[in-house]
Formats: sequence, C-alpha cells, structure tokens
Amino acid sequence: MFGFGRKKKQATDWVDLKTQPVPEGHHLLEVNDLKMYFHTQDGVVKAVNGVSYTLDRGETLGVVGESGSGKSVTSLTIMGLIDMPPGKIEGGDVLYRGRSLVKMTEEEMEHIRGNDIAMIFQDPMTSLNPVYTIGRQLSEGMILHRGYSKQQALQRSIELLQMVGIPNAEQRVKDYPHEFSGGMRQRVMIAMALACDPDILIADEPTTALDVTIQAQIIELMQKMQEENGNAIIMITHDLGVVADIADKIMVMYAGQPVEFGTAEEIFYEPIHPYTWGLNRSIPDPVIDEKRPLTPIKGNPPSLVNAPAGCAFSPRCPYATDLCRTEQPPTYVTETGHYSRCHYAHDASFVSANAPETSRTKTMLDHAADAVAAAQEGGEA
Ligand SMILES: Nc1ncnc2c1ncn2[C@@H]1O[C@H](COP(=O)(O)OP(=O)(O)O)[C@@H](O)[C@H]1O
Ligand code: SF4
Ligand SMILES: [Mg+2]
Repeated sequence: MFGFGRKKKQATDWVDLKTQPVPEGHHLLEVNDLKMYFHTQDGVVKAVNGVSYTLDRGETLGVVGESGSGKSVTSLTIMGLIDMPPGKIEGGDVLYRGRSLVKMTEEEMEHIRGNDIAMIFQDPMTSLNPVYTIGRQLSEGMILHRGYSKQQALQRSIELLQMVGIPNAEQRVKDYPHEFSGGMRQRVMIAMALACDPDILIADEPTTALDVTIQAQIIELMQKMQEENGNAIIMITHDLGVVADIADKIMVMYAGQPVEFGTAEEIFYEPIHPYTWGLNRSIPDPVIDEKRPLTPIKGNPPSLVNAPAGCAFSPRCPYATDLCRTEQPPTYVTETGHYSRCHYAHDASFVSANAPETSRTKTMLDHAADAVAAAQEGGEA
C-alpha cells in the first residue's frame, strides 16, 4: 500500500520550538512583507499585499479592518492553512522564533499548529466537528503534541472547560457541539486553542457573534491566560473599539495592506491615516459622542483584483488629490515605529487639521464590563 511503512514521528521525537530561546536579533514572530495572492478565473486576488509586523511574548497585537481587508488570510497564511493553489505566497516571510514557517513541510507545520501557534476561528460551528464529542475534540491536540494518554487528555479537557466557565464540565465533556449554545461553543474553541499552552494565540473575530456581556468575559479570559502564561495574542476584529483596552500594538488593514501600525496609544490618540480616522469616527466615543454624530465610512472597499492605480483608499478618502489617485503612497515611519501609508501622513499640519477629536477615557471594554456588572446585578435581584 502506498505510504505503508512510513512511520510518522511521535510527539516525543520533536523539538518543541516554544521551549527554544528566541535567537539574538529576532522577535517571537516576524512577518516581513508577506504577500498571499489567489489565482482565480476572474484574475489574481491580492488578498495580502505586503503585511509586516513583529510580536513578542506577553504582547497583544490588534488587527483591525473592514470585512475583506485580508485579516483572516494573513493569519491563515501564518498557520499554513491556505490551500495552494489557488493561493500562492508571492513574497515575504514569516519567522517564528527565527525559523521560517513558509519553508516548513506540512508535517512540521502540524506540530506548530495548535502546539506553538493556535487559532480561534471566526466561525466555531465550522471548526468543531459535529460527529465527535467536545471531549474527544479537545483531547486530540494533547494526545498528538503532548503525548497524553486518552485518560489524561480527558481529565485535562474537563479542567479546560471549567477554566473557560462551562458549568458541569464533567458531564458536558461528553456532549456534541450542537448541544452547546453559540457562546458556549466559542468558549470550547478557546479551551481547544489553550489546550497545549500555545506561544501565540490568534483569535479571529472571536466575539463578533456574541452579545456584549459574553464578549467582555471572553476578552477577560484571554487576558487572564496571558497574565498567567505570558503568551502573545493576535486579536483580529473589524471593530476598533474591541481592541481598545487589550492591544499593545494595532495594525489597521485596508485592501490587503497595512495602512497604519502603531502602539494602541498612537492609533487611538494620534492616528495619522485618513482610514484610521474614518474607523475612529465610526465607533462610539462615550465622552464626545454627545457632541458629534457617528459617521460610518462611505463607499465600499476596492476590488482586490483591479485595485486603484494610486492609494487603495483614494476612491473613499475625503482628502484624495491627483497624486493620491495616480501614485501608490510610500510608507512613512516615525522614530517609534509608528508607520502609515499615506502621501500626507508625515505632514503635521494636514494631520492636525483633519484628525478627529478623540477622548478614549472610557472604552468599549469598559462598556462591556458595565454590561456584565448590570447583568449580574439583574441576575441577583
Ligand atoms: N480561497 C480564496 N480564493 C479567492 N479569494 C479568496 C479566497 N480566500 C479569501 N479570498 C479573498 O481574500 C480577501 C481577504 O479575505 P479575508 O482575509 O477573509 O478578509 P477579512 O478577514 O479581513 O474579512 C477577500 O477579498 C476574499 O474574498
Ligand atoms: S494617500 Fe491620499 S487618498 Fe490615500 S489616505 Fe492619504 S490622503 Fe487619502
Ligand atoms: Mg475574516
């Protein structure tokens, strides 16, 4: 039989990369000018077109942008989960602890996924297998990567379910995914992602379908885990407000490109890109919203097949000039590493004349926390 006799390496045969030091001069994760294009019948979809960032242990990166901006494809590329073809890495690299993930074999990536880098997917129902119990699905990674026995893995699964706040975990571990509510399934996904204590946790819009109370609980849970284990988090969301309190750094994406990158303070208090301004104006600001209306960004993102010749945001940008419409903007970087792709980002008078007034004294997360408190009070009353 084809493949017969080829023995797969056991968990114990592998060097666990997350136990190895980050080599001198490297970061935990380095994404360098990464490009992932899809070759389709309609043309080449430039889904990820030059993404760069670095991430260290204990840090949280927020990745923000409208639907279709390339947030998920960026992360799926890092995880080696894009089908190639139709996908193709057209350039750039991803280094994890100094090793190129792009050059790893599928077998090597199987040991990275779930163990070193774990992902909570956007839709929990499509990533849970309906025909296996929750316990079996939670156990899989621990048996594969950690060499746990079935019994040990089941015991740890119960602990993980308890940790993510699933009541009656000893019983619920035997249930199937459809027996869980949406919020509970999201918690199971988090438990699964945490099972092997990953170095990097990627959460792809983990809270989108959840109400504000559960959102706050899930975010708190991820923060608690980070405090205990010191791992890095990449939090993907279309809602700038969600990352306000948890992100150390934020990358704003538009049409497959990062248009602004900086610390959370820089993105919230000193944003320099007109698209970030637009996002900022479209989230509720509890302090100044009494004075200003919420203004969603008009228009739609461009086609990723026939992108505009100049700045991708130019068809929607209120400040676009002829230069913007004809020439791609360069990336301007400040001393702190705050960068922006806009022809005018380095012009202080342009920025001060047009940037929105911001006052993030109370963020979305505070609101969510208030909602939790109110719900608890309501429950007790
Ligand atoms: N397999 C694929 N084939 C062709 N295009 C794809 C494929 N997967 C994703 N895309 C396209 O890549 C772009 C980025 O998608 P995605 O990363 O999922 O956006 P986001 O997560 O920011 O909403 C979208 O235009 C999407 O249609
Ligand atoms: S380069 Fe021009 S069109 Fe693009 S964001 Fe800057 S001002 Fe707007
Ligand atoms: Mg997505």
